[in-house]
Amino acid sequence: MTGWKPHPGTMDWGMQDRMARLFPGGKSVMLAVDHGYFLGPLSKLEQPAKTIAPLLPHADAIALTRGVLRTSMPAGSGKGVILRVSGGVSVLQEDLSDETLATGIDEAVRLNASAVAMSVFVGAPHEHQSIANLAKLVDEAEPRGLPVLGITAVGKELDKRDARYLALASRICAEFGARMVKTYHCPDFAKVVDSCPVPIVVAGGPKLTTEQDVFDLVANAMAAGAAGVDMGRNIWQHEQPVAMIRAVRGIVHEGLSAKEASQRFHELAGKR
Ligand code: 5RP
Repeated sequence: MTGWKPHPGTMDWGMQDRMARLFPGGKSVMLAVDHGYFLGPLSKLEQPAKTIAPLLPHADAIALTRGVLRTSMPAGSGKGVILRVSGGVSVLQEDLSDETLATGIDEAVRLNASAVAMSVFVGAPHEHQSIANLAKLVDEAEPRGLPVLGITAVGKELDKRDARYLALASRICAEFGARMVKTYHCPDFAKVVDSCPVPIVVAGGPKLTTEQDVFDLVANAMAAGAAGVDMGRNIWQHEQPVAMIRAVRGIVHEGLSAKEASQRFHELAGKR
């Protein structure tokens, strides 16, 4: 599905309002800072408050855990909060799919979340548990008007990220009631978008070699029908993170090409 549009017949007002906050104008720049829940203090995210502060004004929403929300996110920003509620395994384990529901739904409501997010490990050793967790979360979130973001997680198997696998995993998230899906960009990405009946946002994955690679990824994803990005490392691990997020925002919300985004990046970074 391309972008997000209100569906009065299928969404209560609260659900629509939360989705509208996440997708102003139908598109979204979500800033992902939820990596620490299994990766610990990643480079450039050692002190989340310092990473978040300069980037937040340029994001529509922020994706994080309750621990980072409470300690590192200013209240009253008006930004959407996508609360990660799955977890339970650290990067020290080989199999990362043994996750549980780590934050309750009442806590999500109390924290004024705009959405709750859960990783779904299709094809992994704990596939059944992971899909059952998603089903339970949707059952709890829907009556409260909270949209669920399903995340197609691949653990350490980054080479799983092809269109066939990501279309399967994204579709399963949507079938179980996720209102939106976060997945990876891949060749033939339109196949993933076209077979998923809810909006898709793309993650950036590990840091790419150049900023042009990032702009190409985002522009290609948007051209294929993505509703935006849920991006972390390729923004805040860059030496010019504010210029990065503003250039990415230009692609998502203004329809800049990758080349135009690069020009904007260099203007903002003062590199030209
Ligand atoms: C961490 C996540 C991230 O939110 C997701 O991967 C997006 O971040 P990045 O752009 O750095 O990949 O789900 O578990």
